[in-house]
Amino acid sequence: MALCTAAVLAIAAVIGACAGAGLPTVGEADVVRAQALFPEATRDRLVSGRQIYSQRCGRCHEPFQPATRTPDQWRLAVAEMSERARLHGERQALVLEYLQTFAAR
Ligand code: HEC
Repeated sequence: MALCTAAVLAIAAVIGACAGAGLPTVGEADVVRAQALFPEATRDRLVSGRQIYSQRCGRCHEPFQPATRTPDQWRLAVAEMSERARLHGERQALVLEYLQTFAAR
């Protein structure tokens, strides 16, 4: 039984990792662009935002590509979906920071 549980958890971890596989990764130019929008932006914050987004917002549907929406649309979508994702405070801010940095211009 314990073996079975371990197998299920291992599979869940693999699926979890795959959910964010196609999302844009954070490069130096992205950090510079982010800092123009959010003075507190750092590479670590963007990487965390990407990870939280793929984990929390990819549970019910594939996480949408950031470039499919404008920064304003992301603000609305995150506000609307955060309750479903049980996302609050700092973690919610990190997700929005990541999405708006990589949003459609
Ligand atoms: C508990 C399940 C669940 C979670 C978690 C979830 N969503 Fe959704 N999402 C849905 C469903 C269901 C829809 C279909 C449209 C609707 O019901 O509003 C949707 C639709 C969307 C859409 C399309 C809406 C549109 O009008 O284009 C976006 C964008 C979106 N979600 C973003 C997010 C983000 C960002 C997060 C994380 C903060 C998130 N979702 C977490 C269930 C979820």
